[in-house]
Amino acid sequence: MEFSYPAKRILGILLVTEREHIMELSINGTRVTIADNGDSRPLVLVLRDELNMTGTKFGCGAGICGACTVHVDGVATRSCQTPVNQLVGKQITTIEGLTLADGTSHPLQQAFIEHQVPQCGWCMSGQIMTAAALLNTNANPTRDDIVTAMDSNYCRCGTYHRIRNAVAHAASLKNGGTE
Ligand code: FES
Ligand code: FES
Repeated sequence: MEFSYPAKRILGILLVTEREHIMELSINGTRVTIADNGDSRPLVLVLRDELNMTGTKFGCGAGICGACTVHVDGVATRSCQTPVNQLVGKQITTIEGLTLADGTSHPLQQAFIEHQVPQCGWCMSGQIMTAAALLNTNANPTRDDIVTAMDSNYCRCGTYHRIRNAVAHAASLKNGGTE
C-alpha cells in the first residue's frame, strides 16, 4: 500500500515516539525490551512484575537484606536499589541465568541442594548470587573470605552455617573436586 506524504510523516513521528518509549536491557545474555516510562523504577520490580522473572526476591526494599541480589557486569548488586534506566548497555545476570551453558546447575546450586541449605527459601537466590560473585573473583576463598563476602546477606531462618559450608563446597566443585 502506498502512503501519501502527510501519512508517512505521521507514521514516522509515531514510530519515533514509540522507539523513544522503549528501553532495551541485556538479561542473562538475552536482549529484553521494556517500556521506558521515564521513571527510575527499581530493577527488582521490572524483573518480577514485568518480565515474570520471580527468582529474584523482594525483601526489605531498602538495600539491607540482600534478597534481591543480581549481577550487573559481574558485580553483586542490590536490584531494589538499582534504577532500571541506569542499566542500558550493561550485562544483567539473575538467578535464572546462573545455570551453566550445558544446562547443568551451577556448582553453588548443586551445593545448596546437597547441604539442604534453604528453609523458607526467600533469601536463597540473593545468597547464591552473592556467593557466585565471590567465586568469580576468588576461586579458593578461605572461611573468613566467605564469612566476609556473605556478611550482608541476611537469612531470617538462620541458615548461615549451612550457607558457608555450601559455598566452600561449591568452590571445591568449581575447582574439580568432588566434595
Ligand atoms: S530487597 Fe533489596 S536489599 Fe533487601
Ligand atoms: S532460608 Fe528463610 S530467609 Fe533464608
